[in-house]
Amino acid sequence: MTAGFRRSLPDFPWDSLAPFAATARAHPGGIVDLSIGTPVDPTPELLRRALADASDAPGYPQTYGTPALREAVAGWFARRRAVPDVDPAGVLPTIGSKELVAWLPTLLGLGPGDVVVHPEVAYPTYDVGARIAGATPVPADGTAQLGPTPRQGPGRVGLVWLNSPGNPTGKVLGVEHLAKVVAWARSVGAVVASDECYAELGWEADEVPSLLDPRVTGGSHEGLLAVYSLSKQSNLAGYRAGFVAGDPALVSALLEIRKHAGMMMPAPVQHALTVAVGDDAHVVEQKRRYRARREVARAAVLEAGFRIDHSEAGLYLWATRDEPCRETVGWLADRGVLVAPGDFYGAAGQRHVRFALTATDERITALAERLAG
Ligand SMILES: Cc1ncc(COP(=O)(O)O)c(C=O)c1O
Repeated sequence: MTAGFRRSLPDFPWDSLAPFAATARAHPGGIVDLSIGTPVDPTPELLRRALADASDAPGYPQTYGTPALREAVAGWFARRRAVPDVDPAGVLPTIGSKELVAWLPTLLGLGPGDVVVHPEVAYPTYDVGARIAGATPVPADGTAQLGPTPRQGPGRVGLVWLNSPGNPTGKVLGVEHLAKVVAWARSVGAVVASDECYAELGWEADEVPSLLDPRVTGGSHEGLLAVYSLSKQSNLAGYRAGFVAGDPALVSALLEIRKHAGMMMPAPVQHALTVAVGDDAHVVEQKRRYRARREVARAAVLEAGFRIDHSEAGLYLWATRDEPCRETVGWLADRGVLVAPGDFYGAAGQRHVRFALTATDERITALAERLAG
């Protein structure tokens, strides 16, 4: 890694929250930390047992994942995501989804002169992944912003990232929007990757369609990848369990490089993932917990005079007091509450803050009490 490469990466933004965190921690009732979306509830017993059952693993695991894993993921798409036609050959486990987001442009062979498009208000790793590859990240939310030809703007568009439901906004992209992006990307030869890790957590959204939905794809997964994570739906963030699925030709290209690079999911985690995607009950249970927390937090945030935008799905409330986000972060820190400033997610987020719902019932109750008093 050259110094130049490091210089192109953004500063790690969480450091700038330290003074607000110190203020919030000084609250006599302790901090209510809603700044990070890290799960707090136990890993389901079923999945802990699956991990333990597969813990005798002296040999190397398959980078491609076991056939059982790939079949189980294809079955999950059919059962939970209204996608009946995922080919198990087009499924690949990833070590959580963040690593894939960070490395996909590189694995696709993108580099200088290539553009990676990502949402305007976005999880920062899409931008980072483009920079790691030496490509140019371009924030854009619609095909109208991208123009009709592959050569417009700063380079050739090689990859378009979608994130639905979105982090931090909780916005869900409908079938029509997804289909439009796919048609545009196919017309310019770009890959579309959709990060769908909050797909099981729809609240007010009628449906949360996948990029691979036949109404979107026209029956072909060519050039399309859906990215998923078990971190949120199954409290498995510590296991690092994710997968990518879609175009078998693209997946096979990713597989080849990942085999060379040693990017393989540990065998016990492969088994836990296989069991997790085959079981719906634990996801229903976790969703119930988040729904209850969301109702308490949402009422409290609205009562305190915030406006909540989007947030129809996912693990966040994307809220504003119509003032610069750092002022809102300070106001909340004075009440012992820590949230993420919207400017972490791009300039378009600078008047919002993000409340994560990943806190215990007790801490969410404390949030409501503090905002009321
Ligand atoms: C939009 C989005 N993508 C990817 C990730 C990474 O999740 P993981 O690496 O745990 O699968 C997160 C985590 O918060 C996220 O919000």
